[in-house]
Amino acid sequence: MNGSVCLSCQAIERYLGEEESRVHALRGVSLDLEPGSIHAVVGPSGCGKSTLLYILGLLDPPDAGRVSIESEAMSHLGDDELARKRNQLIGFIFQFHFLMEDFSAQENVMIPMRRLGRLSDEAMRERAAVLLGAVGLGDKLRRPSRHLSGGEQQRVAIARALANDPRVILADEPTGNLDTANSERAFELLQNIVQQGQKALLLATHNPVIAEACDWIHEMQDGRIIASHPRGQRSLGA
Ligand SMILES: Nc1ncnc2c1ncn2[C@@H]1O[C@H](COP(=O)(O)OP(=O)(O)OP(=O)(O)O)[C@@H](O)[C@H]1O
Ligand SMILES: [Mg+2]
Repeated sequence: MNGSVCLSCQAIERYLGEEESRVHALRGVSLDLEPGSIHAVVGPSGCGKSTLLYILGLLDPPDAGRVSIESEAMSHLGDDELARKRNQLIGFIFQFHFLMEDFSAQENVMIPMRRLGRLSDEAMRERAAVLLGAVGLGDKLRRPSRHLSGGEQQRVAIARALANDPRVILADEPTGNLDTANSERAFELLQNIVQQGQKALLLATHNPVIAEACDWIHEMQDGRIIASHPRGQRSLGA
């Protein structure tokens, strides 16, 4: 996979909010994610981690700079095409998972597949069951998600993010509301998925143990990446 990049962004700028309270949330952020690699973005609250993830996930447009997925620039695409690319190529795991709480685990995982519209109902059901089996929830397929524990709900969210076999997984504090055992379990699950499927994973985290287990750590401050270092190597800081 030498030299190949799943997702890349260059010189991203983003302003948020109204005129007088306008925030320069991202100031020239560039990043490359290779297949099979896990990158962590760390930094104080408000430094721009979620803003960056939303832009990379094609959920929010940058004010300047470009995002490319598998070498294809996304900036010129219209809303429908962006939504299609997002659904096809990116799995997003939100901090507060946003499951449909009255839907079963299986139905939640089928939602992105329905949107893509490539599989029959039976094939979607089967694939959702396989994905939920892989995250250890094979015996809870039909349970409404509001009757699952926090750790189980987060695993449903991981399975849902994998529904359309994305190239890239973006995770905003994927273990933020889990206890230590469940965070480690969710992270190990993500590690296996990335390795087996040669996907790229970028996660924002406040958990130093998880950050240190990633292949790369990017330190953000005031909308900039001030240092990037591979696992085990201490950063020199800004
Ligand atoms: N919709 C918005 N309108 C105005 N400002 C915003 C908006 N969303 C975020 N911001 C501001 O942009 C900056 C970056 O926010 P962001 O949510 O990306 O931070 P973060 O690093 O994810 O923080 P946390 O660790 O608390 O999740 C912050 O100053 C925040 O207040
Ligand atoms: Mg955030």
